[in-house]
Amino acid sequence: MRTLYLVSVFTHILSAIIWIGGMFFLALVVGPIVRRQGSGGLFVQLVREAGVRFRLIGWTCLLMLLLTGIFQLVYRGYGWADLWSGPLWQSQFGKVLALKLVAVGIIFLLSALHDFSIGPRATVLMQENPESREAKSMRRLASWIGRINMLLALFVLFLALMLIRGLP
Ligand code: HEM
Repeated sequence: MRTLYLVSVFTHILSAIIWIGGMFFLALVVGPIVRRQGSGGLFVQLVREAGVRFRLIGWTCLLMLLLTGIFQLVYRGYGWADLWSGPLWQSQFGKVLALKLVAVGIIFLLSALHDFSIGPRATVLMQENPESREAKSMRRLASWIGRINMLLALFVLFLALMLIRGLP
């Protein structure tokens, strides 16, 4: 059982690395290149294909984080009943976990909005008329949702460290 737990924590951390690293790569490498090169056909295609490919990888990571996270809680002795009782949430571990789960919930909602609504809409508008006001505002909205998610991901990472090591 301990080996399974260690494999779960390894998978949990690896999923966090791939997901957060991928978001930073898109924002710090792909984004500036596309902005510098303007919205020529090739770059719109690059954004679209990178976005679609990372969508699959990102959701796989988020799902792995959820599944391994639940397993780690079970391994630590928490069960379904604990979720509805006071003691867990009154403990320091429980308070940090609660904050982490709220932030993760917002990340899931924003990711769904970005990946399945705003993002695809922005890409279609950019293909139709990249200079249109609607295309630019949808693209800006998609970028801002992406940035907020990155900040939330860093916040979750900080909470995760405190989950194990305690508050400062
Ligand atoms: C965006 C999603 C998430 C990210 C980026 C994330 C990140 C991390 C990281 C980096 C650690 C390792 C911390 C360390 O060893 O210092 C960790 C630990 C942990 N995470 Fe998450 N996590 C996420 C979602 C979740 C979810 C949804 C749950 C619960 C359902 C969860 C439960 C846990 C638990 C219980 C640990 C402690 C592991 C242990 O026993 O050592 N995490 N998380």
